[in-house]
Amino acid sequence: MAAGGRPPLALLLSLPLLVTLFSSPPASAADDTIAANSSLADDETLVSAGGVFELGFFTPAGSMARFLGIWYRGIAPQTVVWVANRDAPINGTTASLGLNATGSLVLADQSGRVFWSSAPSNANATGAPVAQLLDSGNFVLRDGGGAGAAVLWQSFDHPSDTLLPGMKLGWDLTTGLDRHLTTWRSPGDPSPGDYTFGIDIRGVPEGFIRYGGAAPVYRNGPWNGLQFSGEPEMEPNNSNFRFEFVANASDVYYTFLVDGGGGGGGVVSRFVLNQSSVQRYVWPPGGQAWSLYWSLPRDQCDRYAHCGAFGVCDTSSGSPACGCVHGFTPASPRDWALRDSSAGCRRMTPLNCTGDGFLPLRGVKLPDTTNATEDTTITVDQCRQRCLANCSCLAYSASSIKDGDSGCIIWSSLLIDIRHFAYGGEDLYVRLAASDLPSNGDGSRKKNIVVVVFVSLVVLVLFGFGGFFIWNKLFRNRGRFQSTQRFNSFGSSIPLTPVQDRKLEDESGQNKDLNVTLFDMATIAFSTNNFATWNKLGEGGFGAVYKGELEGGQTVAVKRLSKYSTQGLDEFKNEVMLIAKLQHVNLVRLLGCCIHGEERILVYEYMENKSLDNFIFDKGRSAQLNWSKRFDIILGIARGLLYLHQDSRYKVIHRDLKAGNILLDKDMNPKISDFGVARIFGDDTDSRTRKVVGTYGYMSPEYAMDGVFSVKSDVFSFGVLVLEVVSGRKNRGVYSSGEQASLLSQAWRLWREGSAVALLDEAVAGAGAYRGSEVRRCVQVALLCVQERPDDRPHMAEVFLALGNPGAVLPQPRHPGFCSDRGSTSTDGEWSSTCTVNDVTVTIVEGR
Ligand SMILES: *[C@@H]1O[C@H](CO)[C@@H](O)[C@H](O)[C@H]1NC(C)=O
Ligand SMILES: *[C@@H]1O[C@H](CO)[C@@H](O)[C@H](O)[C@H]1NC(C)=O
Ligand SMILES: *[C@@H]1O[C@H](CO)[C@@H](O)[C@H](O)[C@H]1NC(C)=O
Ligand SMILES: *[C@@H]1O[C@H](CO)[C@@H](O)[C@H](O)[C@H]1NC(C)=O
Ligand SMILES: *[C@@H]1O[C@H](CO)[C@@H](O)[C@H](O)[C@H]1NC(C)=O
Ligand SMILES: *[C@@H]1O[C@H](CO)[C@@H](O)[C@H](O)[C@H]1NC(C)=O
Ligand SMILES: *[C@@H]1O[C@H](CO)[C@@H](O)[C@H](O)[C@H]1NC(C)=O
Ligand SMILES: *[C@@H]1O[C@H](CO)[C@@H](O)[C@H](O)[C@H]1NC(C)=O
Ligand SMILES: *[C@@H]1O[C@H](CO)[C@@H](O)[C@H](O)[C@H]1NC(C)=O
Ligand SMILES: *[C@@H]1O[C@H](CO)[C@@H](O)[C@H](O)[C@H]1NC(C)=O
Repeated sequence: MAAGGRPPLALLLSLPLLVTLFSSPPASAADDTIAANSSLADDETLVSAGGVFELGFFTPAGSMARFLGIWYRGIAPQTVVWVANRDAPINGTTASLGLNATGSLVLADQSGRVFWSSAPSNANATGAPVAQLLDSGNFVLRDGGGAGAAVLWQSFDHPSDTLLPGMKLGWDLTTGLDRHLTTWRSPGDPSPGDYTFGIDIRGVPEGFIRYGGAAPVYRNGPWNGLQFSGEPEMEPNNSNFRFEFVANASDVYYTFLVDGGGGGGGVVSRFVLNQSSVQRYVWPPGGQAWSLYWSLPRDQCDRYAHCGAFGVCDTSSGSPACGCVHGFTPASPRDWALRDSSAGCRRMTPLNCTGDGFLPLRGVKLPDTTNATEDTTITVDQCRQRCLANCSCLAYSASSIKDGDSGCIIWSSLLIDIRHFAYGGEDLYVRLAASDLPSNGDGSRKKNIVVVVFVSLVVLVLFGFGGFFIWNKLFRNRGRFQSTQRFNSFGSSIPLTPVQDRKLEDESGQNKDLNVTLFDMATIAFSTNNFATWNKLGEGGFGAVYKGELEGGQTVAVKRLSKYSTQGLDEFKNEVMLIAKLQHVNLVRLLGCCIHGEERILVYEYMENKSLDNFIFDKGRSAQLNWSKRFDIILGIARGLLYLHQDSRYKVIHRDLKAGNILLDKDMNPKISDFGVARIFGDDTDSRTRKVVGTYGYMSPEYAMDGVFSVKSDVFSFGVLVLEVVSGRKNRGVYSSGEQASLLSQAWRLWREGSAVALLDEAVAGAGAYRGSEVRRCVQVALLCVQERPDDRPHMAEVFLALGNPGAVLPQPRHPGFCSDRGSTSTDGEWSSTCTVNDVTVTIVEGR
C-alpha cells in the first residue's frame, strides 16, 4: 500500500479504497465462500454447505468486544470452536473480514487497523484465491476454486481451544508447524490462557498439558498402537470414535474421527482444553445440551510426577497414593511421611551392571519418554538384551501392544510419572540389582502360608472346631495364591486388596454340590488380560462381557456389571446364590462371582457360538440357521423362559430378553443369559422400577412408559424375539424411520393380509425346506405376545403349548403395542431416546 512518492494521494485514497476493496461485492448470508477482493461485514456470516458450522462475528457472554469465530450453526447456546483475533478484540461493529488479491485473509476496520490476518502464504498464489467454510468446521483458503487447489492456509492448522473431528493435534515436521490447543483465559475472554495441550516430539512423542508454556501438568504417555499409555480406557474400536496417532518422518499428530463423518448425521463431538482439564463432549441426537463424555485429569495420580522419580501412583491401593518401585525407598522419608512425595524414591542397592535383572511392573502408565529412545523394529526380547547390555539403561518396555507386544522403548534417565491402573496399562521392566529382585515370588508365598498357618492356629485355639473348619477351607484353596502372586508385581510397595477366595456358603445347607466360586479380582483381571478390549464379547444393558481363561484352561464369560447397583455386599451374594440355583438346559450356567470394591462381576460358562443376533442379523451367517433349527431355538427359548417364570422355585422376570442375550452352544442350542441380573440391581421387589433397564425394540409399552413390569413384559419381548428369528430382521428402535420403522407393524400388516409366511427370512425361504403352517403359527403366537394390553397376552405356559402343538386352536391377535419415536433427550450423560405411546412421554435408556 505504501506509495512513497505520493503520500497525500495515498492518504486521500486509502479510506475509500479499503471500503470498496472489502465491501463489494458483499458475501450473501447463506454463502460459504469469500472470493478475492470481497469481504464479510460484521452483520454477515458464512454458513457451511451442509449448515453445520457458521463463521462470523460474535461477542462472548460477559464481554463487550467483537471477535471473528466459527461456531455450530444448529446448537444453542452458541459454542465457539475457533477464534481468529483472540488477543485483538474489536471495538464496535465496523470491522470486516476481507480476502485481498495476494491471498491473505485480513480482519480490519474502516480506519485500516488490522486486527488479524492469516499468515502470508509461502505458496505462490497463481489463480484467484477463495476462502471457504467447510462442514468439518475448517475454514480453508485455497489458491483458486476447486477442491484440488493448493491449500494456502486453513483454520485447522491454528487451533484455539477445541479439537474437532479430523483436526490434527501435533506437528507437521516438514514446515515445523506445531498445532496445539490453548485455553481461553476465561469464558468471556478468548485471549490465550495459561494452559496448552500439544504433542512433545522429544524422545518418544507424548501429549502434554502444560502451564505457562513449560511446566507439565499432565502427560498422556506414548502411543502404544491402540491408545495412549496413560489412557487405557481409550477403546481402539469404539463404535462412535476412531482415534489415530501418526508418527513418521513428516508428521507426528493425534486425531479422532467420528462415526458418520464430520458434521452431517454422525456423532457430534468436540474435544476441548478447559483450563487444566481436557474434556470430550458429545451432543446427543436431538439433545438439549452438551454431555460430558470423558475428561482428564481423573485423580491425583494424573498430576504430573505426583510421586516423584521412581515413585508409583495408585489410587486403588487406598491412601496414600504414592509408593516406591520395589527395590527403592523414599528419598526423603520425612516429607514422604507428610505425604509430600515429590522428592521421589532412591535405589537401595546400586546397580552392578553385569549381574542385574528386571522387575516387571504390570498394568502401568509408562514413565515420561521425553528422554527415552524407541526402536520399533526389534522384538521385546531383543529389547531386554539391548537394555541389559547397556549399563545406562534403567528400564525397557514394548513400544506397541497392538497384535501382541513388539518394539522397544529404553529409558536411561529417571523414571518419572508412573501410575498403576486397576485395569489396562502396560508392562514396564525396571532394572534392579540381583539382590533386590523378588525371588520369583517364592519368598512372599511362603510368608503367606506362614500367615495362614499362624492365623489358623489362633483361630483353632479360640474357636476349636470352628477354627478347624476355616483352616480346612483355606487349605483346600491354597493353590489360588499363585495366580495372585503373578499379578502382584510391586512387591510390598503396593499391596493388593486382601484376597477373598472361598466357596460361598449355601446357608440353607441344601444343594451341597452347588458350585459357586467367589473369585478374587486378580484372577479375573488376569484371565481377561485386564479386561482387554480384544477380549470383549459384547455389551449388554447391565454391563460389558469379556472372554476369560481360568488357570485350568477353562474358558469363561466374565460379566462386569455396570455401576448403578445400589446393593450391599450381602444382598449381592444372596442374589448370586439365587441365580446359581436356577439350573436348566436352556439357561446359561453361572459359575461364580467376584466382589472387589465397587466392582461386581459374574462368571458364566462360555458359549462357543456367541449370541443369536450374530446369526440371524448377519447376511453371511443367517443361512446356517435353517427353519427347523430356528424353530428349535424358538422352542428352547420358550422352555427356558417358562422355567424362569413358573417352574423354578423363584419367579424370575428377565427384563432384558433379546437376541443378544440368547447364547448358542456348539450344537446351536439356545441358552438364555443375563436372567436374574435385574434382581441384582435391587429393584425387583416392586413391580414399579426406579430405572427402566432394557433394550429398545423389545420393551413392552407399559414397561417403557410407566416402568411397570410383569411376566407379561417378558412375554412381549419374547414375541418380538420370535418375529426377529422368523424374519431375520431387527425390530428397530430409535434410529430408523418410515417403512422400515417397526418389524411389529410389518408382521401385523402381513398377518392381516393373510400372508404371514412372507415375513420369513429370505435366507430360509430360499432354501425351501420349511413348513408354512409352523411359520404361520410362530407369527400368530408372536403377535399374541406383543398385544398392547398385558392381560391379552398369553402366559409362557400357553405359548409353549401353542408352539409345540400343531392342532392347537389359537385366538386372533389384536393390535400390537407400538413404540414410535419422537425426538430424544438425555439423562446421566447416557444415550437415551424417547418412546411415545398415547402421547405420554418418558425417557428410557438405550442399551445395546
Ligand atoms: C482484485 O483486485 C486486484 C486489484 O484491484 C486486481 O488486480 C485483481 O484482478 C482482482 N482480483 C479478482 C479475482 O477480481
Ligand atoms: C471503544 O469505543 C468507545 C466508543 O467509541 C470508546 O469510548 C472506548 O474507549 C473504546 N474502547 C477501546 C478499548 O478502544
Ligand atoms: C494482503 O494482506 C497481507 C497480510 O496483511 C499483506 O501482507 C499483503 O501485502 C496484502 N496484499 C495486498 C495486495 O494488499
Ligand atoms: C514460487 O515461485 C518461485 C518462482 O517461480 C519458485 O522458485 C518457488 O519454488 C515457488 N514456491 C512455491 C512454494 O511453490
Ligand atoms: C478394529 O476394527 C478394524 C476394522 O474393523 C479391525 O481390522 C481391527 O482388527 C480392530 N481392532 C481391534 C483391536 O479390535
Ligand atoms: C506420514 O503419515 C501420513 C499419514 O499417514 C502420510 O500422509 C505421510 O505421507 C507419511 N509420511 C511419511 C514420510 O511416511
Ligand atoms: C469447562 O469446565 C467446566 C467444568 O468442568 C464446565 O462447567 C464448563 O462448561 C467448561 N467450559 C467449556 C467452554 O466447555
Ligand atoms: C556383580 O554381581 C556379580 C554376581 O553377583 C558378581 O560376580 C560381580 O563381581 C559383581 N560386579 C561388581 C562390579 O560388583
Ligand atoms: C531429560 O533430560 C533433561 C536433560 O538432561 C533433564 O533436564 C530432564 O529432567 C530429563 N527429563 C526426564 C523426564 O527425565
Ligand atoms: C547406552 O545408552 C545410552 C543412552 O541411551 C546411549 O547414549 C549409549 O550410546 C548406549 N551405549 C551403547 C554401547 O549402546
